[in-house]
Formats: sequence, structure tokens, C-alpha cells
Amino acid sequence: ASLELGPYNHFMQKEIHEQPKALSDTIEQVLESGFAPSLFGDHAQNVFEQIDSVQILACGTSYYAGSVARYWVEAIAGVPCSVEIASEYRYRDVVANPKSLIVTISQSGETLDTMEALKYAKSLGHEETLSICNVQESAIPRASKLVFYTRAGAEIGVASTKAFTTQLIALFALAVTLAKFKGKLTAEKETEYLEALRHLPGSVQHALNLEPQIKSWAEKFSPKDHALFLGRGVHYPIALEGALKLKEISYIHAEAYPAGELKHGPLALVDEKMPVVVIAPNDALLEKVKSNMQEVRARGGELFVFADLDSHFSESEGVHVIRTPRHVGVLSPVLHAIPVQLLAYHAALQKGTDVDKPRNLAKSVTVE
Ligand code: G6P
Repeated sequence: ASLELGPYNHFMQKEIHEQPKALSDTIEQVLESGFAPSLFGDHAQNVFEQIDSVQILACGTSYYAGSVARYWVEAIAGVPCSVEIASEYRYRDVVANPKSLIVTISQSGETLDTMEALKYAKSLGHEETLSICNVQESAIPRASKLVFYTRAGAEIGVASTKAFTTQLIALFALAVTLAKFKGKLTAEKETEYLEALRHLPGSVQHALNLEPQIKSWAEKFSPKDHALFLGRGVHYPIALEGALKLKEISYIHAEAYPAGELKHGPLALVDEKMPVVVIAPNDALLEKVKSNMQEVRARGGELFVFADLDSHFSESEGVHVIRTPRHVGVLSPVLHAIPVQLLAYHAALQKGTDVDKPRNLAKSVTVE
């Protein structure tokens, strides 16, 4: 291994393990701001006065970060929020609402489709724009009124990991800051969110400590041709991200569904050859997820469940359970991103693929 890699075998593995640091660096600037608009730039106060909704535009993993944000912005700030794949938005006859804040999310700040979507939004009359980006002075933040730079540090592995989880922090901060600005944040909620942010890096470290167990799951996974990922609510985009990671680096075909949609199609694919990964934290939808899981088991599908300590799952024939660390409430999707990254990484290792440079893919797509 090169000097740069230290004890790690791949940049992806190194970057997965850098997440407690990347997150605490990014969280630090949020805590310093006290959820003041200035966190997003000098003109943010003025921008926040103008807007009545949020439109997120992004590609790939950044799009999934935006998909988590939609739940947060609506639930925490009570502000309508849509999210769209940049390459679709840019070619659609959009009915623009100029009072909507355009939020682009791009690790590199150079993705062509996201840049073009931003230009298109501006041509439709959007003036209020925010870029969430990991690379200082790249093209997309330069073209935006407001900027939040995530502090993930350079990301080299093609499959995004630490950039994704730090984007989630930026987006969570946006939801809470908007709530505070609109007078919708109670002192009690503010304390709860601050606590959740402060505890997150430690919980992520505990999630990383699950690596040996996840590696043994990956050994069961690597011979498979297909996998299903299920989640509900704010964890559905994490299921999508888990399926994307697995596809990108292990070349195992994977799909993600919101668990309630299982009965409308994907259940037909389930037999004893189909591993089903379930993200099942102890939230309001847990009982629903449990009944979705019974449907899978009844068809012989093998379940791999990431569950909180208090969601009371036990191992049984065809049901494997890994306990995720103490519940971090509203930031639970960030925490659950870690085990799905590790699962994809170890499945790819088993298969012997080029983890940091998967075939046919590029780190930053600056062409159409
Ligand atoms: C490529 C990368 C992905 C990334 C996507 C968007 O497809 O391989 O990891 O999520 O581009 O990149 P961005 O830099 O705009 O976040």
C-alpha cells in the first residue's frame, strides 16, 4: 500500500473510516453557527426571506442525499421540498416557482448535468441558489449565490462515501436553519438536534466497528447475482444508496424499494436465491417493516437486517441481524449509510473487482 493509504487497502476503505473525522469537521461549522442563516453565506438571510420552497437538483449518490433531505426539510422546517435528478430536470418543461430555493448537491462541483440544471433553473427565473459542495471554488459553487462546503477532505474512490454523509449534515443543517428562520423551531427541538449532531461521530465510529460482522455477510453475498434493499421513510434513500454502492463496485445487480411497495412487484423476484437487506431502525414504521419482512421469509428469501438494539429482532433460520449502534434519532439515516457502504466494499473485495476504479465509471462526469 502507498504511504497515502496508511493501513488501508483502498481509498474507499480509508474514506469510509475517515467518516467520524469528516463528519465532526463538518458538524463543527454547523455548531459554531447556532443554525444562523450565515452558515450558508453572507446573503443567506435575504435569500431565506424570499423563498417559500426548496427544489433540490443532483446526480448519483448526491441525488440520494437530496432524497433524504426532502423528508427533513418538510418534517423539520415545514417547507415544501422537491428533489429531481439533474439530467432529467434540465430537459423538462418545468413550471418554475421563482420563490423556490434551488439547491444543487455535488461532491466535485463539476458534474455537467448538475451545472446545466442550475443554468436552466436560472434561465427560468430562479435567483436564489445554494450549492452544497466538497471542492472549494469549483464550477457549481462559483455559479451559486449561497454555498455550504462540506469538510470531507479529498475523496478519491469513485464510489462516494464520506462526501455523502457530510452532504447529509449540510442538508440537515439547512432544514433546521430554515425551521429556525421561519420561527418553527422550539428550544426543545433545537437542543435535541444539537445533541444528535454532537453524538453522531461517536455513533458512526461504533457502526464502523461492525466491520468484521459485515464482512462475514459479504462472504454470503458475493456469489449472488441479485440483491434487494428495503427501507421505509427517510431510510428508503439509504436503501437506494446501498443498492447503488453494491452495483457500482461489486457488479451485483441490486435494487431498492420502499418496503411498502414490495407487494406491487418485487415480491415476485423473491425466492431462496434472493438476499434481501433491510434497514430497520426502531422508528414509527418498524411494525410495517416487520410485516414486509415476513412476506419475504414466507417466500424463502434470506433476510439481512440492520436493526437498532431496541427494535427487538432476533436471528432465526434465514434471518441474519446486525445491531446498529444506539439510536441517534433524526440522524439515523446518516448512521445507517455506514453498514451499507461496508457491505458493498467487502462484497467487492470478495469478488476481486477494482474497488477504487470500477469499470465504466468516472469520479466526476463532466461530459453528457
Ligand atoms: C459520478 C460518481 C458518483 C457521484 C456522481 C455525482 O457518477 O461516480 O460517486 O455520486 O458522479 O457526482 P457529484 O460530484 O456531482 O456529487
